Amino acid sequence: MKKSLHLLSAVAMSAAVMFIGFNASAVELRGSHKANQVACKSCHTKGMKQAGTTEGCLSCHESYDAVRALTEKNHPELEVNPHMDGHLGELDCTDCHHIHKPSEVVCSECHQFGFTAP
Ligand code: HEC
Ligand code: HEC
Ligand code: HEC
Ligand code: HEC
Repeated sequence: MKKSLHLLSAVAMSAAVMFIGFNASAVELRGSHKANQVACKSCHTKGMKQAGTTEGCLSCHESYDAVRALTEKNHPELEVNPHMDGHLGELDCTDCHHIHKPSEVVCSECHQFGFTAP
């Protein structure tokens, strides 16, 4: 009995280790935030148990106007600016930009503007 309990806890422990390993890779930063070693808390302004916030993004990226202007400058070829104050209003940055996993563009549900969100 004692022996099988022992075995059971060994199994449970390796499962826990696997789980931690899985989580650690799930929270890796991507792109420039990784390169610039952006601190977790600068995005996770509501604590580490909540997702990063638009408020956090704007502490570095300034404002919607600033991001809109940056896109206009760097991508004059775009017919529509994904950062426009459009019929959905000004969305949360993280509606499109995911930080730990590939991003998505909510506009693509209905339009084909050829965007790819970094
Ligand atoms: C501590 C400052 C900081 C915070 C907070 C921050 N960023 Fe950034 N972000 C940067 C820097 C620095 C770059 C690189 C700019 C450059 O290379 O010109 C960048 C680049 C980007 C890029 C361009 C893609 C890329 O990876 O190069 C996107 C998109 C972006 N940030 C979105 C966000 C969003 C969304 C948030 C909030 C969830 C956020 N950022 C929070 C500093 C920050
Ligand atoms: C509707 C989806 C969407 C939302 C919401 C959004 N973005 Fe973007 N963003 C994009 C797309 C798409 C691109 C890439 C445009 C392209 O080059 O095709 C981009 C590009 C960027 C870039 C790189 C600009 C450049 O050319 O160097 C930054 C920085 C950025 N976004 C930050 C933000 C921040 C900060 C917010 C919130 C204030 C935000 N974005 C909200 C879709 C979005
Ligand atoms: C540039 C902004 C930003 C930085 C820096 C950042 N996070 Fe996040 N984090 C987010 C956002 C936004 C989400 C919500 C999910 C998403 O969009 O990727 C999130 C989600 C998470 C989650 C929930 C699991 C998940 O993948 O959804 C964990 C855990 C987490 N972050 C941990 C961290 C840790 C640890 C660090 C520092 C190493 C960190 N984050 C740095 C923005 C950030
Ligand atoms: C739920 C569906 C839906 C989503 C999501 C959506 N749109 Fe639209 N959009 C529409 C409809 C419907 C119209 C009006 C039909 C038309 O004029 O073609 C429209 C019209 C537009 C127009 C004017 C007409 C055109 O095609 O040039 C622009 C610009 C636009 N949307 C941009 C955006 C952007 C940017 C996003 C993402 C931030 C977005 N839309 C998300 C449904 C959507």
